[in-house]
Amino acid sequence: MAQNWTPNSWRQKPIQQVPDFPDLAALSATEAQLATYPPLVFAGEARRLKNQLANVSEGKGFLLQGGDCAESFAEHGADTIRDFFRAFLQMAVVLTFGAQQPVVKVGRIAGQFAKPRSSNIEKQGDVELPSYRGDIINGIEFNEKARIPDPERQIMAYRQSAATLNLLRAFAMGGYANLENVHQWMLGFVKDSPQVERYRKLADRISETMDFMKAIGITSENHPSLRETDFFTSHEALLLGYEQALTRVDSTSGDWYATSGHMIWIGDRTRQPDHAHIEYCRGIKNPLGLKCGPSLTGDGLIELIDLLNPQNEAGRLTLICRFGHDKVAEHLPRLIRAVEKEGRKVVWSCDPMHGNTITLNNYKTRPFERVLSEVESFFQIHRAEGTHPGGIHVEMTGNDVTECTGGARALSGADLADRYHTHCDPRLNADQALELAFLLAERMKGGRDEKRMVVNG
Ligand code: TRP
Ligand code: MN
Repeated sequence: MAQNWTPNSWRQKPIQQVPDFPDLAALSATEAQLATYPPLVFAGEARRLKNQLANVSEGKGFLLQGGDCAESFAEHGADTIRDFFRAFLQMAVVLTFGAQQPVVKVGRIAGQFAKPRSSNIEKQGDVELPSYRGDIINGIEFNEKARIPDPERQIMAYRQSAATLNLLRAFAMGGYANLENVHQWMLGFVKDSPQVERYRKLADRISETMDFMKAIGITSENHPSLRETDFFTSHEALLLGYEQALTRVDSTSGDWYATSGHMIWIGDRTRQPDHAHIEYCRGIKNPLGLKCGPSLTGDGLIELIDLLNPQNEAGRLTLICRFGHDKVAEHLPRLIRAVEKEGRKVVWSCDPMHGNTITLNNYKTRPFERVLSEVESFFQIHRAEGTHPGGIHVEMTGNDVTECTGGARALSGADLADRYHTHCDPRLNADQALELAFLLAERMKGGRDEKRMVVNG
């Protein structure tokens, strides 16, 4: 076990991004109650994810991580979850086909409720109120009452996470994700979607392959891997009281695990090496994500890796890089070189969302071409450094929202008002997400052909 660590040792450290709970007794009571509830995920599942990520860190797989910026209590319908899962499966199938490698599937879902904010207050006109910090903490409505942090919300977030996870498990294991349904996943496409034809062609090829395999005796009945998929959950471990309450000892290994989700990550704003969030995360055995932004130096990164992965265990740590399309070339190479020089095992993932946010017509948005451009640069840089571009981390939804501009249907600034539904940052809609997957698949195919040329040449 990590030295001098306990599930509450983070409480002795300085901490960023804590809500101002007016009633601390009520907060403690809620945390005590949560601590009696069943875990949402099991240690064995987290270990399984870690093993899959270990393969990715060795260049034998690709990580697809995505979902809402922030989940909300208001939007918790079965359709929303199904639409997300369907879009996510489509991306996974496209990427598996392109990479000819397993795709590790991790949702930003079933626990992604707490948000770090750049300011403690929000001002509208002359009125100043505490900022919205995610549904697990306070309400998004701009009035005094809604913005008071309420511990009871943690119970609601726990219950919503359990219900969401229940449905996701059913989809992943109960037949919905069967590769024989690859055509059915198209039903959700908006009529004029430019991705339809592309996807149909790929689905046809997969069906043809499945028919061939059936002819030689390999079916989804006798090969569960054709009809089931491993789907994991993840969120930012921001609200540490909640995380602590769900931290449990795994009886088979005696190790501590966060049971709020399979993978949790540390935000770019809360990764100070001597602060609370790093302290909490170093002691649990789950796979961890670390957001890496422009202010991170090579030495700073190695210091954090020393704390979070002292045994250099493959699959333990995923570095989620979020620089911005115009800054990635400046910042990514030094991090890659520091990690390579020290021989650290990591998964390199690209978050092309958070460094590319702009304001247009009073809406926070992200131009799709900048998202693509950051991903392209990420791939090019890794190819040049000889390292594996191991994954992407995106904010997306399965619905037809208008939050990011661009894409094949060329959403403009004027379109944003149509269906701008996000509770926090702008998300790729189903179409844009799939377009991104196709582009990535092409890049990965390119990488394969290049490698073959080197081997043969
Ligand atoms: N089990 C395999 C996997 O998860 C194949 C698979 C089944 C699959 N259903 C899927 C792949 C849906 C992508 C999407 O990779
Ligand atoms: Mn976000």
